[in-house]
Amino acid sequence: MEDKYRLPSLKDARKRNKEEVKVERALFEIPDQARSMGIGKKYFLRTYGCQANQRDSETISGILNHLGFTMVDQEEQADVLIFNTCAIRKNAEDKVIGELGLLKRLKRVNPDLTFVLCGCMAQEEEIVSLILKKYPQVDLIFGTHNIHRLPILLYQTMFDKERVVEVYSKQGEIIENLPVNRFGNHKAWVNIMYGCDKFCTYCIVPYTRGKERSRLMDDILLEVKELKEQGFKEVTLLGQNVNAYGKDLKLQNGFATLLEEVAKTGIPRIRFTTSHPWDFSDAMIDVIAKYDNIMPSIHLPVQSGNSQMLRLMGRRYTKEDYLDLYNRIVSKIPHCTFTTDIIVGFPNETEEQFQDTLDMVDYCKYDGAYTFIYSPREGTPAAKMDDNVSLENKNRRLQTLNDKVNYYAKLNNDKYLNKVVKVLVDGISKKNDQVYSGYSEENKLVNFTAKHVKVGDIVEVLIKDCKTWSLKGEMIER
Ligand code: 5AD
Ligand code: SF4
Repeated sequence: MEDKYRLPSLKDARKRNKEEVKVERALFEIPDQARSMGIGKKYFLRTYGCQANQRDSETISGILNHLGFTMVDQEEQADVLIFNTCAIRKNAEDKVIGELGLLKRLKRVNPDLTFVLCGCMAQEEEIVSLILKKYPQVDLIFGTHNIHRLPILLYQTMFDKERVVEVYSKQGEIIENLPVNRFGNHKAWVNIMYGCDKFCTYCIVPYTRGKERSRLMDDILLEVKELKEQGFKEVTLLGQNVNAYGKDLKLQNGFATLLEEVAKTGIPRIRFTTSHPWDFSDAMIDVIAKYDNIMPSIHLPVQSGNSQMLRLMGRRYTKEDYLDLYNRIVSKIPHCTFTTDIIVGFPNETEEQFQDTLDMVDYCKYDGAYTFIYSPREGTPAAKMDDNVSLENKNRRLQTLNDKVNYYAKLNNDKYLNKVVKVLVDGISKKNDQVYSGYSEENKLVNFTAKHVKVGDIVEVLIKDCKTWSLKGEMIER
């Protein structure tokens, strides 16, 4: 029965080869019958997880609009309901599984509703087999490597009225020129590479997103130039590990070169995420320091402040390496802000090892940190490690860590009192139409009063009040 499905395989997803990555252009297939299949039909798209998923959702939406579908913001109105899912931790998956139960109700009201599950959970063997057994309400499952197949898969599901599962566990090529419906009109995500080859021992991403493959520099620059011409003010260059950009293309200093070329396009603001400390080069630091349009704000996941833990996590750097990198960045970009990711309660983490993480936070005084309790992921090496740390201790460590992170967030924000920051305006406050919000160059959320501003303007704001996670101020009217 399941033979007709193309199912994910962890074993295949783990493989890496040295084959060159194929770049395909506009090869997304629309069968003739499917060309207008969406006319008069509506879709609802919900995105879980990271920016890579957000960007994928823009492609999914672009494809659906191309087929004539219209996007709606209420599930009840939809003919097609799509969940683009995340697998990074168990609680991300639990949320989606919980939602699947609710779908039964929607299907009772509208038996023609088509439910689609895609994204990282679709790449997991265990999850797909659970859905096949227990959730008949899911009509179509496709993965992260075959978004371009959406027209044909959706057509089969909707018109042949059969359940369709198509997930590739191969390493993936690059498909250029897919339609995109950008969800913002002054800030854009730009993929520069896909996949990850780091295989940190706790992480599912190398399995769900395939091998590291870089887009060609010319394709990226063309996209940024087009965005600039369309009036976009900010691009965020995206990759699981942007520093590895170009390694597969045999480029020397690939990311530093790319960053410099993007800066030269003159787009007003450039950000990038995520950077792995292991291959963060001095050439990169120099380029960030040199160009005013590369924002002085770096997300530099540390995960742990203890070298032994870092080794078990497969992070490829020691506590000393990380501190050295941090100091090199600060010496060349003194006004740079830092955020990080931290995992507590990795298998057998001792109190002393956890204390090293707290010491790291004391040293780096992060502006913010995403903090997580370690979550075992099926198929990863860490999931096989015995773990003697109780959940109670893990929770307590998380709380202690969060208290410290909050303390430094506020301390750092306090430095902005009576200072002027440049803010890219995102929108008007939901509570008060005299209050606008946006982000400063240092990536601080700023709420401010102003008379005449438009979304997408870059304005100067005098900071009058500093909170833990935001600043408040008044725009300087010129
Ligand atoms: N458990 C907890 N946190 C994880 N992360 C990745 N995998 C896991 C896991 N299994 C965190 C890391 C990473 C961020 C995106 O998510 O901190 O940097
Ligand atoms: Fe996961 Fe490590 Fe790759 Fe980041 S660098 S996506 S944590 S394997």
